[in-house]
Amino acid sequence: MDERNGQRLPRHVAIIMDGNGRWAKKRLLPRSAGHGAGLKRMIALCDHAFSRGIKTITLFALSTENLSRPQDELDALFELFREYFRKNLDNLIRKNIALKVIGDLTLLPEDIQALARGGEEATKDGTAGTLVLAIAYGARADILSAVNKAVRAGKEVTEQEFSALLSTSALPEPDLLIRTGKEKRISNFLLYELAYTELYFSDKMFPAFTDRDFDIAIEDFSSRERRYGKV
Ligand code: FPP
Repeated sequence: MDERNGQRLPRHVAIIMDGNGRWAKKRLLPRSAGHGAGLKRMIALCDHAFSRGIKTITLFALSTENLSRPQDELDALFELFREYFRKNLDNLIRKNIALKVIGDLTLLPEDIQALARGGEEATKDGTAGTLVLAIAYGARADILSAVNKAVRAGKEVTEQEFSALLSTSALPEPDLLIRTGKEKRISNFLLYELAYTELYFSDKMFPAFTDRDFDIAIEDFSSRERRYGKV
């Protein structure tokens, strides 16, 4: 946790970017337009959060469950991923941000797998912050994969050793989770890592979640007392 202007800042903020579809529906637009607006908001919000001093941002961009959505919606999302990896790496490199992608990328079209790995490679020297995109990610699958690694190694593991087997191993645990879009659930995101994370739910749909809304979430976080189960 960092301190700036007397305010306690979370080091790592995780965001469930929910509500793109409902944002579009309200405007009589196709769901894909909601995802497009979500991507624009996501890019600007990350710039804002990093400029405020947040060191790690993890975004839930697509869950394994989302992969059973209609093919035309998935195709639109895949196109946005391509656009993001093709057009936004320069921005990350300029800002000295490292990109990391977690999730089962084998469930995605091959060109997107290559773009994602290329994006990680191109930004790997970034030291100002880390942007983690969870794509085709499911926490239960990640936990199971870690369990199976431990079983194959044939030995019992400590909490620390287990964390090192997860796809988030190189990252600090999130200090704050923000979920937009009115729902109050975790939806198979970072189940193990969120054990002591502060939760913040916003009624705003993700494309309408402004930088100011983010700042309000940070202010709320800064007033919380974190006891980690102690008194
Ligand atoms: C949930 O809203 C959002 C998603 C499934 C996709 C989020 C993706 C983006 C913001 C674009 C990401 C792009 C990159 C490159 C990471 P929903 O569709 O479930 O909304 P609803 O609950 O209102 O239907």
